Amino acid sequence: MSDMVGMAKKAEAYLESAGKLTEESLRDYIPSENEVPISLHSAMRYALLIGGKRLRPALAFAAYEFFGGKPSESIRLAMCSLEMLHTFSLIHDDLPCMDDDDFRRGKPSTHKVYGEAAAILAGDALCIFAFELIARAGNAAVVEELAHSLGTKGMIGGQIIDIESEGKAVDLATVDYIHYHKTAALIEASLVIGALLADAPKKELELIREFGKGIGLVFQIVDDILDIESSTETLGKKVGSDIKKGKATYPAVLGLDASKQKAMELYSSSLSHLEKLQGKNTETLRNIAALIIERTH
Ligand code: IPE
Ligand code: IPE
Ligand code: MG
Ligand code: MG
Ligand code: MG
Repeated sequence: MSDMVGMAKKAEAYLESAGKLTEESLRDYIPSENEVPISLHSAMRYALLIGGKRLRPALAFAAYEFFGGKPSESIRLAMCSLEMLHTFSLIHDDLPCMDDDDFRRGKPSTHKVYGEAAAILAGDALCIFAFELIARAGNAAVVEELAHSLGTKGMIGGQIIDIESEGKAVDLATVDYIHYHKTAALIEASLVIGALLADAPKKELELIREFGKGIGLVFQIVDDILDIESSTETLGKKVGSDIKKGKATYPAVLGLDASKQKAMELYSSSLSHLEKLQGKNTETLRNIAALIIERTH
């Protein structure tokens, strides 16, 4: 256990440096707030630049480095694209017609500052801009992977079942469906995209994919647990939001203790895929997995 805390600390440092690279790149690419349409560019910059762990870009960078990728424009484009797509999902997730949450990343949600119409359009614009950037990386398989992870078989598919399940008694299979699609799919894709850009061998790429699926699911189970056990101050978003909305979560179906146990089991089985990658240094990926389960925000 104490070992996991040490690993998580190392991962935090990795996320910080990958986060710096992401933020520098984002500032290079996104339009300034002086460019017309000003309100839209301001809302996009607000949502993107107020904070966030930058986990998905860090995962892409870690997989890219793992397979020997050297710093390049293509990985920077992918990192920015992933963070824009994740931010688009957050802006829409917080809207009154979705989770109706007023705080995000320690600040008022985008729709609270810019209004609902601008928030919807800023989310749309971030999604479109993300594909413009990733297209520049010049790798069709990467674009396909990204699109798939966000569409009806990915994030958006998970979000609709999440919304439709509110207030209903759901089974574990439904929660797994929701969590895999709304959250794990993009986490999996982040790793796969890093691997694709580094020309990873197919067999090894599939092991990274399985690892990503597992830690992606752990990530959302921990998100559910933190919504109960953490504080609004630590999380930067309102706690208790899931219970208030009757959300389909792991704790709602299994209870807190069994959810924690399940997260730990999934964490271990995710690592078993990394163990098959013989002769490679999996340390950074293992550290990030430890952070995903040990995280407090
Ligand atoms: C929040 O994601 C939404 C979920 C998928 C649970 P993060 O916890 O990665 O949010 P930020 O990017 O750090 O704000
Ligand atoms: C979010 O799930 C998933 C996406 C944003 C796609 P949640 O609704 O649990 O995320 P938070 O808790 O609002 O960050
Ligand atoms: Mg939601
Ligand atoms: Mg939400
Ligand atoms: Mg949540």
